[in-house]
Amino acid sequence: MKKNCLVLFGGQSSEHDISCMSVLNIVENIDREKYEIILTGITKEGHWVFVDDIESIRDGSWVMSEEHAVLSPDATEKCLYVMDRSGAGRIPIDVAFPVLHGLYGEDGTVQGIFELARIPYVGCGVLSSAVCMDKIHTKVVAQTLGVRQADYTWLYRNELENMDQAVKKVEDALPYPVFVKPSCAGSSVGVHLVNDREELKDALLDASFHDSKILVEERIIGREIECAVLGTDREAVASGVGEIVSAADFYDFDSKYVNSGSKTLTDPDLPPEIRENIRETALKIFKSVDGYSLSRVDFFVDDKGLVFNEINTMPGFTAISMYPMLFEAAGLSKKGLIQRLLDTAEMRKEH
Ligand SMILES: Nc1ncnc2c1ncn2[C@@H]1O[C@H](COP(=O)(O)OP(=O)(O)O)[C@@H](O)[C@H]1O
Ligand SMILES: [Mg+2]
Repeated sequence: MKKNCLVLFGGQSSEHDISCMSVLNIVENIDREKYEIILTGITKEGHWVFVDDIESIRDGSWVMSEEHAVLSPDATEKCLYVMDRSGAGRIPIDVAFPVLHGLYGEDGTVQGIFELARIPYVGCGVLSSAVCMDKIHTKVVAQTLGVRQADYTWLYRNELENMDQAVKKVEDALPYPVFVKPSCAGSSVGVHLVNDREELKDALLDASFHDSKILVEERIIGREIECAVLGTDREAVASGVGEIVSAADFYDFDSKYVNSGSKTLTDPDLPPEIRENIRETALKIFKSVDGYSLSRVDFFVDDKGLVFNEINTMPGFTAISMYPMLFEAAGLSKKGLIQRLLDTAEMRKEH
């Protein structure tokens, strides 16, 4: 018998539009012989709607759906309620695939609903999702492994009320240039390369619009290298490594999604020992954050070696995204990859 697979997409984060692209790529590769796909979209405002037509995701008209969807947290129900003017229907859910990037999706919140409902789901659990969403907390965990990272300091938004003191805190900790970023955000939103005090003030203020905690880091001058991880708490594998060649000074929003001058390479020119070190370190970091199902681990490689940057627990899955590309380069098709991810959900032990 076919299983009902709830696929969640959209979401309230700045990466909403990326999720709408990722979901198409995922849905197209789910085995229809095994799974009935139940699509639910979350609008930017946080409204959940039932979506019965994939085409409406392509043209964006899904947001107009008048069928309100409610995922029950009741573990004895395990279902989605779909309500329209004529009443409510109930769809049992066997497994869930939250294709949500960023806040309110990749940060443990949605994962918490699946845990309550005891519905098996693809992706990292509550703890790892929350830790990896928060760049400052990720750093604290990675520090315990002795993995090299950019030097950093961090501030609460409310520390900016005394801007002179906030600036002093940063300048005492790090020389310019520095990177300023919201601790919890993605897609390079609110990320700034800062060269002097005036730029620092502007960057701190802008980052504080996106999160209440702001990370300030040493600028690393190096290549950007990424590694995909797939597996469970028992066994996880790392893909080969990929390189991001940004069209701009750094991999900002524009160069990620707009500027076609940026390139992603799945076979970058790197010595074998560095590749191996990256793969091993990616697995070590995945384990240290209690990773599950999948993650993409991002590094810089500079003249002294490897520097860990961040880990994404629901990496982009668009047609040009690194995560599926890295596994395809290793001989695992998108269909095969999606099935492996759904298998990890089924293997999730009941808590
Ligand atoms: N410390 C740093 N040194 C050099 N470049 C950086 C640094 N931090 C971030 N960047 C650049 O900014 C981009 C976005 O920052 P990142 O930490 O990956 O945040 P996001 O979660 O938005 O992807 C990176 O891909 C890289 O190009
Ligand atoms: Mg990044």
